[in-house]
Amino acid sequence: MFPVHRFRRLRKNEAIRRMVRETAISPDCFIYPLFVTYGRGVKKEIPSMPGCYQESADVLVSHAKEVHSLGIPAILLFGIPETKDELGTSAYDEKGVVQDAIKAIKDAVPELYVITDVCLCEFTSHGHCGFIENGDVNNDKTLALLAMEAVSHAKAGADMVAPSDMMDGRVAAIRTSLDREGFSDIPIMSYAAKYSSAFYGPFREAAESTPRFGDRRSYQMDPANKREALKEVTLDIEEGADIIMVKPALAYLDVIAAVKSSFVLPLAAYNVSGEYSMVKAAAASGWIDGDRIMMEVLTSIVRAGADFILTYFAKDAAGLLRK
Ligand code: PBG
Repeated sequence: MFPVHRFRRLRKNEAIRRMVRETAISPDCFIYPLFVTYGRGVKKEIPSMPGCYQESADVLVSHAKEVHSLGIPAILLFGIPETKDELGTSAYDEKGVVQDAIKAIKDAVPELYVITDVCLCEFTSHGHCGFIENGDVNNDKTLALLAMEAVSHAKAGADMVAPSDMMDGRVAAIRTSLDREGFSDIPIMSYAAKYSSAFYGPFREAAESTPRFGDRRSYQMDPANKREALKEVTLDIEEGADIIMVKPALAYLDVIAAVKSSFVLPLAAYNVSGEYSMVKAAAASGWIDGDRIMMEVLTSIVRAGADFILTYFAKDAAGLLRK
């Protein structure tokens, strides 16, 4: 009790603050998302995500080298294909944008760990994450397409696949196909608790994946639900997920904490596009200190329980952490 106990004693200077600090972040916990597009020599900044680009594979390779040189262990690849159709066939084309980019990166920077996003929304003409029937995504018919996409990424040399579509049973479908095709050593990071969120707005501009009709509420989770997240995670682990993810991160720190306390698998959190854009926009207006907010945000996600963060801040934060 006061005056015997005074918490300020352990806040007196940076040395003691460092000693009692409970949460440490390092570049080891970052996964950096990258957007690969078709063509050559292309580098287009995404207006709502300053510092992030759509890049053709040749340009992306030098970017991947920079990411690696900053001490970031892994990237997450998204593709913007030249052609889209009803079935998203360019997603599982062995000469697709993502498949070509995986090969190019693995040739140039083999130590960089390449994770691929497995979803159809960037590749379908309607922008939904699967096979459309009667105005909605047909779950079971989508599973085979996702499994083909995951196998094609593994064949191209991906180190890990990350399904983000939110179909029921997709982890099992992908695991079975990977094993059958000789990829039993390729792990699955499942976007297990992925909410239907307005925070994905800037990403859809970046990945050109806005649905042409309706929204994703029939497959992504309702932001109001937490117990349901535990059910989603339970099932994905039963189906064979190696790493589970909660997405978005900031408005869902309670979900991250709940998943962390209930499961022992490594836990990822996706600090999504809208969370990045808001910080960048406010910082550009001079309303906040962008660097400090970035570090505070990333620290909060790890403090809540995430083992890794998928974040567009990875390069900026890694740069600051080196100083
Ligand atoms: C694809 C996918 C999305 C994101 C990651 N994978 C968009 C969506 O579900 O609409 C969002 C990432 C972000 O906002 O940074 N399904």
